[in-house]
Order: sequence, then structure tokens, then C-alpha cells
Amino acid sequence: MFYKKIVSKLVAIGFIFLLFFASFVPAQAATDNSLQEVKDKGTLVVGLSADYPPYEFHQTIKGQDQVVGFDISIAKKIASDMGVSLDIKEMGFDSLLGALKTGKIDLIISGMSPTPERLKEVDFSDPYMTVQQKVVVRKADADKFTSTQDFNGKKVGAQKQTTQEELAQNELTGSSVVSLQKVPDLILNLKSNKIDGVVLEGPVADAYVSQDKTLKVSDITFVNGEKETAIAMQKGATSLKNQVNSSIQTIKDKGLLKEYQKEANELMFQKGGFFEQYGSYFVKGTLYTIALAAIGVFFGAIFGAFLALLKLANTRWLRWPATWYIEFVRGTPLLVQIFIVFFGTQVFGLNLTAFISGCIALTLNSAAYVAEIIRAGISAVNKGQMEAARSLGMTRGAAMRYIILPQAIKNILPALGNEFVTVIKESSVVSIIGVSELMFMTGVVQGASFKPFIPLIITSLIYFALTFSLSRLLGVAERRMKTSD
Ligand code: ARG
Repeated sequence: MFYKKIVSKLVAIGFIFLLFFASFVPAQAATDNSLQEVKDKGTLVVGLSADYPPYEFHQTIKGQDQVVGFDISIAKKIASDMGVSLDIKEMGFDSLLGALKTGKIDLIISGMSPTPERLKEVDFSDPYMTVQQKVVVRKADADKFTSTQDFNGKKVGAQKQTTQEELAQNELTGSSVVSLQKVPDLILNLKSNKIDGVVLEGPVADAYVSQDKTLKVSDITFVNGEKETAIAMQKGATSLKNQVNSSIQTIKDKGLLKEYQKEANELMFQKGGFFEQYGSYFVKGTLYTIALAAIGVFFGAIFGAFLALLKLANTRWLRWPATWYIEFVRGTPLLVQIFIVFFGTQVFGLNLTAFISGCIALTLNSAAYVAEIIRAGISAVNKGQMEAARSLGMTRGAAMRYIILPQAIKNILPALGNEFVTVIKESSVVSIIGVSELMFMTGVVQGASFKPFIPLIITSLIYFALTFSLSRLLGVAERRMKTSD
């Protein structure tokens, strides 16, 4: 009896809860404006990961960096059929589903295959292609890898959160799978013997191999290697889906896909000299890096000076916050701080660009180090100086200004210069949120050129040139100041 009562109460409570939450869930089927919304916006926002030739990849066309490939042609066709313009948003393949679900993008056109797990989260159009999965190996080792069994005890690579990752886990028995975010990084790992194979979509495998004489597509075939490729949209976006399907139908009927593929292949092989093609990427990256570092150090110095003053204050209520800030910032990784600023500002409704977020993170980080530099510089001035100044009748403030600070500056400036050198190097971490600084551009060049290693060397030389010339300049300045002693 008692038991029954409780159950019925629970059921009632459950029902109320259900009603409560149901009122927050939009009734999707009834209010599907997905197509109209895109038309009202006037732009179709397509998300993709441009590391996937011939689907989508970077190429320099008339000196301009562009994302091209047959997925892009399909996207253009869909947008023009809808009478809207196309906006391409690039991100890691593993961020696409999240971006679609949160409405940051309208469609995913990124060689994505419908899988049961994905179908729980999003809807898919009709497939526009069916392809086989392949394993790319080093040509020299090609004989060693002829069946799925041969990877027993070996490392194989696959792109994070893809069907290839799953396939490697399921069918390359006994292998351990290395999952990375970008395909060029996988190729780099393969070429430098870190892994022995990379599972790739057939056309992508062929594209990479055709660009690199040291690689080969192995004869290995998968049991479940056949995968479809389709376009993803939000769940319940039926009108948008129908529109996309009708464009896909036209593409199929008119045999346009063949054309798109041919164009993509031609673009892939369009070659110029390396620097002619990618020089501008490095220049752009370098300018961004200098800007980031300069802004970070400049504002970091201002904020850092303020922190140093707090730290030297006589009241502990001023000292404590500064001390804790400095300890916290110096005791946590810059990478984490960058993410906190980038996503934190978003949580507070500030939609800052990646560049601004990067500048803020570097400023906040650098300030903690600058504060210590300034504090140490001031403390290093002999105590007797303050006593002497005070005994001459100067106030504490005046003594600080006319006696202590001028001497402290000599300790501070060189250290501040070193901080600049450090920030130049550290700013490379900002690439993680997609600021087009040097490190980020290196990744782009790696992907576009199919050369995983050379861009890294060039980038290291650029960083070195920047830091080395800066520290030389600082050396000169320091010697000047010494002679004025
Ligand atoms: N077809 C695979 C999947 O759906 C991989 C697609 C990767 N696409 C890319 N642009 N990197 O999981």
C-alpha cells in the first residue's frame, strides 16, 4: 500500500517535470524554418576541416590563399541554388558536430560519413559519394604491410573522431591507434617513422601519395571499408535538408561531380616554386606574431607595473591580490590561460575574435612576469639609497621617483627585453585558437604543400631571426646604458 502511494507520487512528480522541460524544448517538426532562416540571413555558413584533398584543401591561387576542393564546389552549388552567398568556416574535424549543434554553422560539408552515432546528433542529406578506406604506408616498408594482421603490435594513425579512427580500432587487430586532429600531422608522423600506417579515405590517400614519392597506398582492404559521404545539418532541419538533397540530385543528374573532381585534381597539382606559393603565408604569420608579442608585452608592462606597485605596497590588502595573481598565472600553463580567455569571454557573452583573445591572454600572462621583473629591479637597488635620500629630507615618493626608479630602470629594461623575446616564442601557443600567427600558418602550409617538415624548419628560422636580432638590439641598448654609468 505504502509502496504504491510512493510510486504514484513519483510518477506524478515525474510528469510535472516532464511538462516543465517539454515547454523548453522547441517542437522542431512543427516549426522548421531552417531553410527560411538561411535565406533571411542571406548567407549559408558551411563548416569544414580543410586538410582533406581533394575534398577541401588550401591552395594559393594568384597569390591568394583559398580553400578549394570538390566539397567547396558542392557548397557553392547549394548556396547558389538557394540564392544566398557562401561563408566557409574552417575548424578541426572534431569540432564540426559541436559547431553545427550550437548553430555556429548551417551545414557540415567535410567528407563526413553518416554513422549511427552521428545520426543521433544530426541529420544527413542523401550521400553524394561512396568511397573505400585505405592505408597509406612508407614505400620502403610496403612489403611488410599487406594485410590487416600485419599491423599487430604497430602504431597506426587516423584523424580524431573519424570513421577511419573507428576502422583502425576495429579491423587493424593488435595495433595501437594514434589519433591526431589534422591529416598533415599524420603524414608527418608516418614519414618520420613515428607510426607505420595512416588510415585514410581512398581519394585522400591517393592525393597524398601522388604528391609524395616516399609514400604508397597499401593493398590492404577492410571488411567495412566502404563509406558514404554526405552533408550534415541540425536535427529536424527538414526544409534545409530537402533543399540540399535537391541540389545533390541536380549534381548527380548533370554529372557535375566528375567535373568538380577534375577541377579539384587540377588545383591540387598546380605547382609553383615553394616560396612563390607559400612565401606570403609566412610573411602574414610573422606579422601576426610580431603584433601579438608587441601588444602582449606593451599592455603586459603597463598592467605588470601596476601589479608591482601593489606588491610593494605597505598594506597587505593591496599586496595579497597582486601576489596571488602573479603566483596563479606563473603556476598555470599559458595554453590553459588562452582557452580560459577564449571560451571564458564567450560564456560572459563577449564574442571576441581569436586575435583579441590571444592578445588579452598574452597580456595577462606577461603582466605576471613583468610585475616580478619590476619588483625585483626596484628591490635590487641598494637600501642605503632610500635611507640617504630620506635623510636629505626627500619624501618617500620623491625618493622613489628621483633616486630609486632611475637606478631600477637599468635593471628592469634588459629583463623586459628578454620578456619580449619569451613572448615572441610563447605566442606560438595562440595558434591553438586559430589566430593566423606564424605557427598557425605553418600548419596551413604543411597541409597545402603536402610537405610536413620543411615549413617547420622555415618557421624555426623565422622565430630565430626575430629573437636573435631582438636580443642583439637589446645588447646594444644595454651597453649604451652601461657607458652612461
Ligand atoms: N569520412 C570520415 C568521417 O566521416 C572522415 C572525414 C574527415 N574530413 C575532413 N575534412 N578531414 O569520419
